[in-house]
Amino acid sequence: MKTVTTEFNIDALRSAFPILDTQVNGRPLIYLDNGATSQKPQSVIDAIQRYYSEQNANIHRGVHQLSQRATQAYEDARETIRVFLGAGNGYEVLFTKGTTDGINLVASSWGRKNLQPGDEVIISTMEHHSNIVPWQMICEERGATLKVIPIFDSGDLDMDAFDALLSDKTKMVATVHVSNSLGTINPVDEIIQKSHAVGAKVLLDGAQSVPHMRVDVKAMDIDFYTFSGHKIFGPTGVGVLYGKEELLNAMPPYQGGGDMIEKVTFEKTTYNTLPHKFEAGTPNIVGGIGLAAAIDFVNQYDPQALIDHEQDLLDYATTSLLDLKGVKIIGTAEKKASVLSFIVDGLHPFDVGTLLDQQGIAVRTGHHCTQPLMDRYGIPGTIRASFAIYNNRADVDALTKALSKAIDMLS
Ligand code: ALA
Repeated sequence: MKTVTTEFNIDALRSAFPILDTQVNGRPLIYLDNGATSQKPQSVIDAIQRYYSEQNANIHRGVHQLSQRATQAYEDARETIRVFLGAGNGYEVLFTKGTTDGINLVASSWGRKNLQPGDEVIISTMEHHSNIVPWQMICEERGATLKVIPIFDSGDLDMDAFDALLSDKTKMVATVHVSNSLGTINPVDEIIQKSHAVGAKVLLDGAQSVPHMRVDVKAMDIDFYTFSGHKIFGPTGVGVLYGKEELLNAMPPYQGGGDMIEKVTFEKTTYNTLPHKFEAGTPNIVGGIGLAAAIDFVNQYDPQALIDHEQDLLDYATTSLLDLKGVKIIGTAEKKASVLSFIVDGLHPFDVGTLLDQQGIAVRTGHHCTQPLMDRYGIPGTIRASFAIYNNRADVDALTKALSKAIDMLS
């Protein structure tokens, strides 16, 4: 991890994000849809522009200078991410298209090799569709069974029920680290320790944890950890899958093509070593470089200062919104990241979201790609305000005022 060089100052931090000066519907933008995607600091925008202005070439294959420059920049990006995640080796850090791609890679490649009829995969009630459907598909193909950890009304996992589900049939436990719909921070250390005790592997969906907290994959003994670049101030279309070396080495390739081969004949192909075995085709080179620039941006700050700032926003927003008539928070776990889902008595989330948008407030409404979770609560969806490090208390005040007005208009 790089040395902290920049004192946390919210006004200075905000000035690094040019889009925060944008107007929508004639109002200053109040961007509270960070769970869906985050905004980009100027340093990330500059890194992308610099790549196309000074470095653009295909990587790994060229002897020419520009190709070597691009290859170096891409592999430097991998090293930045390795250090950020606390991984032991750069080749355990695979570039992907994003979290969904990372989970599909593991479900497809690891699942096809390791799941047999009668085996069990455990997920939780609060999973995003991207951590449900790939496991349903591979379980169906391999004759394995999918089990689901229930939750309490608070949005906490029922860990006694998890204990009861675990057995020597459990081969994989795939859970979200931080819920995108509820904000719950799951007890992943306990999940990892208990899963390993029965010989199961653990995949953590880090899409919503990586923007809010640091993980150390080695210290936490995580088998697979995956996240998306665009939720941590990097570009879309790029993400990361960390996997332990011995697991990745034992897995078959996910996709075939260039770069992932050692030798191809029409009779037989042998495969490249890690990480290339899982990176077929020309990758999103500029995406990887932009993601590393985003991590460099985050690394300037003391991680605890960022966590404290977001916690303050969450607490302030929770108190402010609960003062309004008919507002009910969905997801009241004790340990939460800065995601605030709510409904308003008698009002449809879509109508509330539309009136907030007219006042310049960007929130997300709907099921947030967690339909089974919404079914668990018996609701069609929520209104979700999700905060990032560049939000401030004035954003919360703007949300509260606009929501109060929307409730008056719709009631
Ligand atoms: N999964 C993203 C979200 O939670 C799109 O909004």
